[in-house]
Amino acid sequence: MKAIKIDGRSIAEALRASVARDVALLRDECKFTPGLAVVLVGKDPASSVYVKTKARQAQAVGFKSQQFQLPSDVDEAELLAVIEELNADESIDGILVQLPLPGHINRWRVLEAISPAKDVDGFHPYNVGRLAAGRPALAPCTPLGIVHLINTVVSDLNGLDVVVIGRSNIVGKPLALLLGDAGCTVTGAQLQTRNLPSICRKADIVVAAAGCAELVRGNWLKPGAIVIDVGINRAIDSIGNIRLVGDVAFAEASERASYITPVPGGVGPMTVAYLLANTVKAAVSRRGLSLVRNFESSYISQSCSREHDRALDLERLT
Ligand code: GUN
Repeated sequence: MKAIKIDGRSIAEALRASVARDVALLRDECKFTPGLAVVLVGKDPASSVYVKTKARQAQAVGFKSQQFQLPSDVDEAELLAVIEELNADESIDGILVQLPLPGHINRWRVLEAISPAKDVDGFHPYNVGRLAAGRPALAPCTPLGIVHLINTVVSDLNGLDVVVIGRSNIVGKPLALLLGDAGCTVTGAQLQTRNLPSICRKADIVVAAAGCAELVRGNWLKPGAIVIDVGINRAIDSIGNIRLVGDVAFAEASERASYITPVPGGVGPMTVAYLLANTVKAAVSRRGLSLVRNFESSYISQSCSREHDRALDLERLT
C-alpha cells in the first residue's frame, strides 16, 4: 500500500478562503472588521517566522492585524499591561502571545491575563475547562486543524481507535478531548509509554506529537492506518544538509498507512488557518452574533441581530 498524502496546504487554503468570505460578510452586513493582535517577546527565529506568517495571513483574509514586538528582557508587568490594553480595545477580537516566553516571565500569568473571549489560542484555563466539559469554547488551533484533516479522509470517527503520542497543552491533551467527543477511543501515549509500537499497531489513527524526529516507524502501524504527523524537527542528512523531519519516518510509514500528512505542508498550515477561524468565532461571539457555515455553498450567515441567536445553530461562548 502506498499512502495518499493529506495536503494540509490546500485544505488550509480552502479554510482561509472561507474565513475571508466571512470577513467580507461581517464587513458588509455587520459593519465591523475582526481584529487580531499577535505579541512576540524576544527574537527567537522560529517564533519570529510563525508570528510573521500569522500576521500576514490575518491581513490577507481582511482582518485588522496588529503585531507587537517586545524585547526579550521586557518586564512581565509591561507585557501584562499590553495585554490589558488589548483586552480593553474594542477593535481587537483575538489576542495571541507567541510561546515560548523568556524564562523570567510566568507563562501562566500571561495566558490567564488574556480575556477568555479573545483567547484565540484556546490556552486560557476558562476555555480549557469548557473544552474538557464539552461546552462551546475557543479550542486550541492545532488540534482543531488535525480533526479537520482527519475529517477530510474519514467523515465518521465514531468507534475508531486513536493513539495520540504527546501530552502537551497545545496539542496532545486538547486533541484527546476533541477526538473523544467525536466518539473515538483515545489512548494518550508519550515517549515513556511502554510497548508504544504495539499500542500504535492497534490504532486506526496515529497522531505523533512528541517532538522526537522519526519516532514512529513503518512497522509500528496497522496496515491502512491514518497517520498525522505534528512534529517539526531539524535533522542533518547524510551529506550534511539540514532538513525538516516530522515525528514519523515518512517513507516507511507511507508503505503501510492509507493516508499520511507530510512535514512540512501537513498540520502546520492548518494551525494558522484555525487561528483565523477562531478569531472570526471570537469576533461574532463577543458581539452576540453567530455565523453558520454551509460547506456546499460556502456559508450562510444569519441576521446580525441578537434576537435570531436562539433559532440558530449557535456556538456561543457566553
Ligand atoms: N508556540 C508554538 N505553537 C504555538 C501556538 O499554537 N500558539 C502560541 N501562542 N504559541 C505557540
